[in-house]
Amino acid sequence: MDRPFLDLAPCGPLRGALQVPGDKSVTHRGLMLLSLAEGEGWLYHPLKAGDTLSTARVLRALGAEILEEGPHFLVRGQGLRLREPEEVLDCGNAGTLMRLILGILAGQDGLFAVLTGDASLRGRPMSRVAEPLRAMGAWIDGREGGRRAPLAVRGAALRGIRYTLPVPSAQVKSALLLAGLFAEGVTEVAEPVPTRDHTERLFRHFGLPLERGEGWVRTRRAGPFPAKDLTVPGDFSSAAFFLVAALVVPGSEVVVEGVGLNSTRTGLLQVLKAMGADLEWRVLEGEAGEPVGYVRARYSPLEGVEVDPGLIPLMVDEVPILAAAAAWAEGETFIPGLSELRVKESDRVAAIAHNLRALGVEVEEGPDWLRIRGGGVRRGEVEPFGDHRIAMAFAVAGLPVGVRVREPRWAEISYPGFFQDLLGLCGAS
Ligand code: S3P
Repeated sequence: MDRPFLDLAPCGPLRGALQVPGDKSVTHRGLMLLSLAEGEGWLYHPLKAGDTLSTARVLRALGAEILEEGPHFLVRGQGLRLREPEEVLDCGNAGTLMRLILGILAGQDGLFAVLTGDASLRGRPMSRVAEPLRAMGAWIDGREGGRRAPLAVRGAALRGIRYTLPVPSAQVKSALLLAGLFAEGVTEVAEPVPTRDHTERLFRHFGLPLERGEGWVRTRRAGPFPAKDLTVPGDFSSAAFFLVAALVVPGSEVVVEGVGLNSTRTGLLQVLKAMGADLEWRVLEGEAGEPVGYVRARYSPLEGVEVDPGLIPLMVDEVPILAAAAAWAEGETFIPGLSELRVKESDRVAAIAHNLRALGVEVEEGPDWLRIRGGGVRRGEVEPFGDHRIAMAFAVAGLPVGVRVREPRWAEISYPGFFQDLLGLCGAS
C-alpha cells in the first residue's frame, strides 16, 4: 500500500459480515499492563498496526519480552520495576503510547528516559500529562518548556494527587491512574465529562486497586500482580467505517461481528440513529470486562442533525466518519464541541473541511464546530494529512461515486488491510 494514491471505483452494494482488528486503546493498555505484571500472559486478537507495534517496541526497550505468536502477543512481564532504556524511545505516531507511558515512567524512581515521535506527535500537546505528573513529583522537561516532545523524564517516588481533568481526555486520565500505581497515598481523577474507561476495566481485570464513583476514579499503590490472559474486542472505531459505508451505498447490508460496544465509545450509533440510520446492535458477551457484540447496518436515506456536544467525547475518533455520513444526508448537520479535534493526529476540523470541499460539499468551519450541507458528493481526490482516520473516512465518503485517496498507507496506523476489507465487501476484489 506504499503508493502515492489509490483509485477506488464506485462501489456497488456492500454485503456480508466481517470482523475488524482488535481495539487500539485496549491493545496499548493490555501490552502495558502485561509488561508490568509478573509472569507470562497472552494478549489474544490484539491490533497489530503501526501504533501498537510502536508500543510493543517501547516496552521491549524497557525490559518486557513481547513475542508475536501468530496473530497474538505473548508477553513476559518485567514486573513493576522497568529497565532504564539505553536509547531514545520512539513512539511513532501514537499519542496514547506517549501519554500513557509517561505516566508509567514517572513512577520509576530514578529511571531516565527520552521520548520522541513522528512530526505529528512532536507537534501535539504534552503539558496536559506533564503538568499533573510533575505535581505528583516526577521530573519532566522537553521542547517549549516540556509542552512538546522530545520529552525527557526522570521517575521519582510519587505521591498521589486529586486532579480534575481540564479537557475530557482518557489519555490524561489513564496516564495519572498508571502513575497512581506507583504513588504513595490515593490518586484521584475527576472527570466532569465521561471518557472511555478501558483503563479502569483493565485495572479490575488484573486485580489492581480501583474505586469508581459518579465522575471520579481512584487508585493507590499496587504490589506485584500476576499476568492474566486477555482477549481484545474488535475496534468500534474501525467498525464505524464499514457501518457508514453500508448506510451511504444503496442496497448495502453489513454486519460487524465481535466488536467492542463499550458505551463510552459508541456515541456515533446514537447520532446515526437520529439521522435515520437503519442500525441494530446487541451485546452478546463480555471479554476482559468489555461488552462485545454485533452491529448491523443497512442502506438508509439520512437526514442532517444538530449533534449534542456532550456526545463528542463518546465518539471523539468518529467525527471524520460522521462528517462522511453528513455529506450524504439530506439537509444540514451541525457538529459542535470539536476543540480537541484540532490537536489529534492532524487538525481534524481543518482536514474534514478540506476534504469535504474536495468532494464538492459545502462546509463552514468554526474554531470548534463544523456545519455541513449534505446532499451527496462528487468524485474527487482526498488528502489524509498524515492521519489514518481521515484517510479511511474520506475513502468511505467518496465510495458511492469513486474517489482517489492520496497516501493510502496512512490507514496502516490503525488498520492494515482496511482497503482490502472494504473492497472485499464491495465485491470488487
Ligand atoms: C484514546 C483516547 C482519545 C482518542 C485516542 C485514543 C485512548 O484521545 O482520541 O485515539 O486510547 O485513551 P484523548 O483521550 O486525548 O481524547
